[in-house]
Amino acid sequence: MLQERVPDLSRSLSDLVAPDRVRREVYTDPAIFELEMRRIHERVWIYCGHESQVPKSGDYYTLQIGRQPMIMVRGADGAVNVLYNRCPHRGNLMVGDRYGNSGEFFRCSYHAWTFHHDGRLRNIPMMESGYAGTPYGKDHPDCSMKRAARVENYRGFVFASLSGEGPSLRDFLGEAIVAFDDMCDRAPQGEVEVVPNCFRVIQKSNWKIFLENQLDALHPSVTHQSTGRAAHEVEKQIAKKAKKGEAPLSYHMLSAFATVTIDKWDAFQTINYPHGHCILTGYMGLRPQDPDTLAYDKLMIKAYGQKRFEEIVGVNIHHVLIYPGLSVQSPLQQLRAVRPLGVDRTLTEIWHFRLKGAPEPIYRRSLAYYNLVNSPATLVNADDLENFWKCHQGLSSEGGDWVSFARHHGRDIEKDGTVETAPNCGTSEAPMRNQMKAWAEYMRG
Ligand code: FES
Ligand SMILES: [Fe+2]
Repeated sequence: MLQERVPDLSRSLSDLVAPDRVRREVYTDPAIFELEMRRIHERVWIYCGHESQVPKSGDYYTLQIGRQPMIMVRGADGAVNVLYNRCPHRGNLMVGDRYGNSGEFFRCSYHAWTFHHDGRLRNIPMMESGYAGTPYGKDHPDCSMKRAARVENYRGFVFASLSGEGPSLRDFLGEAIVAFDDMCDRAPQGEVEVVPNCFRVIQKSNWKIFLENQLDALHPSVTHQSTGRAAHEVEKQIAKKAKKGEAPLSYHMLSAFATVTIDKWDAFQTINYPHGHCILTGYMGLRPQDPDTLAYDKLMIKAYGQKRFEEIVGVNIHHVLIYPGLSVQSPLQQLRAVRPLGVDRTLTEIWHFRLKGAPEPIYRRSLAYYNLVNSPATLVNADDLENFWKCHQGLSSEGGDWVSFARHHGRDIEKDGTVETAPNCGTSEAPMRNQMKAWAEYMRG
């Protein structure tokens, strides 16, 4: 369909994406969506899950990579495999549940072909008689479950690429690898574990609208102002009554949307890397000197020494975006995995993690942020979702052809392949420009 309309894709791409703006069809054309799935999501490294989601042999979790149903499964040898969720016999989904334990092997519910957890065929009912004289059997590759072309694990975070070609996971992540280092280093034991289960939200908009919002520093004090104001009112009342004059930290997580006013967001900075990854610096002042924090600090100093401790807690990140499928808030141990379902439907999986060896109240802090800011129950998320839907509606109309990313365009500072926003330009739309630059590179094939 796309080929019929735009036979020369390289030329049409430059018509779709300019350095400071993008045509609306990039978000609404089903043919472009199909091409994105083939050229981006089904080729690059996509986050599957954390290895602690599948602690025991046979534990599995299903997920979607591009349009492909996949299974992340722990084998008896301890390795985490990523397989297509498809039986090689007649195509049945191998598992129908979202997660579970498959026992010692996978057994297809249709005709009982069985498979090892690395996808190799284990047995077929009456294989000897049924397949004698045919080329099919244990050694025939078409009789095993297909594996993701590449699987890599970085500090427990499992990624897969459905293409055998392309950079290694480390090269792909580049500087954005800090998302996982920052998260794990904040644990006294240097590791995190997932807290089952995640929230799932389906938004009625294109997947790129979600990612563009993640480092959009202009929107929080606008979109979330009403929530921030309400929380701030309650925070002030509690503080008035409290002995020490302080409300619990969780109020601050919400009130910051009102107290960090629009002009203050310019003080933050974004750093934009190759492959569309970006970082938003800044930290919402979540290092108070309360007894819980001090107890945590003590454990961390014991584990790492004073100098390394200062380095770890001094990492200045609010958000890391790993294009095209992951948004990580490492200081609060949260991430959101983005799974496009259709041109106007996007699933996000919202996970949070526990710092191994950290005191319970520190976990509670992460849980509070998860529930108050990122969960489907919070007004913060609801207000974002409404914007996403409204954007997609507007973009589907003929009320205009372009999406603008021109804010602070021309002021970016380029050095060594990265693009930093200039001082006091934190609300720059540089992250969106960077994402679309990567998008165009991928789409050119
Ligand atoms: S479809 Fe799986 S065994 Fe037949
Ligand atoms: Fe938001």
